[in-house]
Amino acid sequence: MDLIIRRAVLAHAHPAGHSTVDIGIEAGRIAAVEPHLAAAAREEIDAAGALVSAPFVDAHFHMDATLSYGLPRVNASGTLLEGIALWGELKPHLTQEALVERAIQYCDWAVARGLLAIRSHVDVCDDRLLAVEALLEVKRRVAPYLDLQLVAFPQDGVLRSPGAFGNLKRAIAMGVDVVGGIPHFERTMADGAESVRLLCEFAAEKGLRVDMHCDESDDPLSRHIETLAAQTHRLGLHGRVTGSHLTSMHSMDNYYVSKLIALMRESGVAAIANPLINITLQGRSDTYPKRRGMTRVPELMAAGVTVAFGHDCVLDPWYSFGSGDMLEVAHMGLHVAQMTGIDASRACFDAVTANAATILGLEGYGVAPGCAANLVVLDARDPVEAIRLRAARLAVVSRGRVVSRQPAQRAALALEGRPQSVDFRLHR
Ligand code: FE2
Repeated sequence: MDLIIRRAVLAHAHPAGHSTVDIGIEAGRIAAVEPHLAAAAREEIDAAGALVSAPFVDAHFHMDATLSYGLPRVNASGTLLEGIALWGELKPHLTQEALVERAIQYCDWAVARGLLAIRSHVDVCDDRLLAVEALLEVKRRVAPYLDLQLVAFPQDGVLRSPGAFGNLKRAIAMGVDVVGGIPHFERTMADGAESVRLLCEFAAEKGLRVDMHCDESDDPLSRHIETLAAQTHRLGLHGRVTGSHLTSMHSMDNYYVSKLIALMRESGVAAIANPLINITLQGRSDTYPKRRGMTRVPELMAAGVTVAFGHDCVLDPWYSFGSGDMLEVAHMGLHVAQMTGIDASRACFDAVTANAATILGLEGYGVAPGCAANLVVLDARDPVEAIRLRAARLAVVSRGRVVSRQPAQRAALALEGRPQSVDFRLHR
């Protein structure tokens, strides 16, 4: 064996009921998960009863904007609309070098946090497609240790922004993986519905997945998720389509939602909530009581809809916090959704691991023989304790190699050319 992690506790108990297991790794894959492995390995890690999980997966992020906090100025009001305006001010000044540098720095943070797969939206409304070129370069460079999946995202509206649909098609032709959209940002509800139809038909024609920013609004009548589910069903895209944010569902009529969730389940549409961002950006025009704005996570999960939590933003025009820690995301999601019951708490861990992996369509995700050897050793005994403590990442294994060791602040990234330490502060 190349590597054995001994005395590991798994997030979901071993079928035979053993409290700890040894995980044997060979040629980048998990070769064995047994109570006691007699084999020897070139390298061993003693987990000593700590939780060993498949890595964190962020199903919703914006890597083209990350770590740009303060450029060209800070978001004084902290609102979504000032954030969008600020991003518009920054876009003409972006350079490919700076985009790549910031994204690679964020990927270093991600690795140290045990976050080894990220779905990032990339804005395609700039005719130069600078950000697309930059993130495709980042995807290539991090591929030896991190799965980066890109979504062609028409931030200013695929119909509203001149040339955006053509740019989106170019981005897909260049190698971007997923079709994005933002129907609630089109000029009218009808235009929003038309954008969903066009984009879903394009995805069906190309055999691609879809992930739309959908109904990121407090307007209970923003119902593009209904159209997204209906188009998914019509085009046979079941299991390949995701609605991100869905915050208007928080404010919708309860009877209508009972129909809507069944429609989502029928069409196999997944949902992504972004707890840190939803709780800070939604309900901003409310006086009191102030709405939380996050979509109906426990109800969607109970109906059998796949639900993940995304980070969405870290140190960018919309959000001046964050460090790539998906346990912080799960912690906030758990609180906002009041998911404090034991099964509900564990479901919040799944929302930043297995559920997100399902949405990305990751191959070989999990802790079982034959799975890819991507693992994180957490300084906690179980998933709920990991969320409570935002547990230290004692070791992170990617493609069978140890890429980060505790303490995270002095993580030694065993990857050629990568820094030997990770500093989560933003230096400028
Ligand atoms: Fe987003």
